[in-house]
Amino acid sequence: MVLQIIHTCLPDKKILALLRCSMKIAETVKDLSEKLSRAREGGCSIGFVPTMGALHSGHISLVERAKRENTLVLCSIFVNPAQFNDPADLEKYPRTPAADIEMLERAECDILFMPPVSEIYPQGEVQGEYDFGYLENIMEGRFRKGHFKGVGRVVARLFRICGPVTAYFGEKDFQQLAVIRMLVEKYHLPARIVGCPVIRENDGLAMSSRNVLLSAAERKDAVLVSRALFAAQEKAAGLTISEVKKLVHGILKSSPLIRPEYFEIVDGDTLLPLAQWEDAAFIRACIAVKIGHVRLIDNVPLNVPPA
Ligand code: PAF
Repeated sequence: MVLQIIHTCLPDKKILALLRCSMKIAETVKDLSEKLSRAREGGCSIGFVPTMGALHSGHISLVERAKRENTLVLCSIFVNPAQFNDPADLEKYPRTPAADIEMLERAECDILFMPPVSEIYPQGEVQGEYDFGYLENIMEGRFRKGHFKGVGRVVARLFRICGPVTAYFGEKDFQQLAVIRMLVEKYHLPARIVGCPVIRENDGLAMSSRNVLLSAAERKDAVLVSRALFAAQEKAAGLTISEVKKLVHGILKSSPLIRPEYFEIVDGDTLLPLAQWEDAAFIRACIAVKIGHVRLIDNVPLNVPPA
């Protein structure tokens, strides 16, 4: 199956290179479990990078960190239907399996798990219903109903399949990271979670698999999202929270292509909105916008010294 996908996407020379690759590809839970058991018998610690594919340098930075901190790196590629509230969004989500395999091979990933839907959600299996309380209803949750339940479902399933791992997630999905930390703690899953910094393009745009869906004009204006966040970072100490919000919305308004969904200044631990700087020691500014049909999210820490 994987070789079939590669065949349709790559010229022969590249196929030969991939056939020589040392990264093992598992498509079934049974195959993956056997590979991981053998690795654990050999004393390996496992670093795990779950993804939905369409990989970019942000994902590779997670693989590299996992590589530095573990003896074996496992990556998964699974476009999880359960976390898409909009079927059109699932349909157009970028899929680049051949390029992903090449990137992972180059990053010296050891095992790639690339299951079909039937392996993750086998028929008849009772799916867990995970509850993240207010965390699943604020910010992203307001615009993507059921999204975090879907994320919880797949991540819990992956952690149970893999057994004990250290798992690496990007801070670009800041709320997702908080949800996954809660998932592990509340449902006693065998994973240690490591959050890793946002990786950006040269102009500041946060790397995302969705960036390739932007038209040239949209891509040009998308830079305003990070520019607005950096302005908030720079000016926060001299402004009130509502003045920072005005500043950010003013910058976003300079593009007719950008439709802001939310800009929130939150306690970085609880993700609850702040009324005043003094209410939290660790502060995060989080944003979501739509540009054309593409939804982008980003966030930065705000350092506001105590008054
Ligand atoms: O961040 C992602 O790519 C996905 O939400 C994840 C964590 C792999 C679950 O499908």
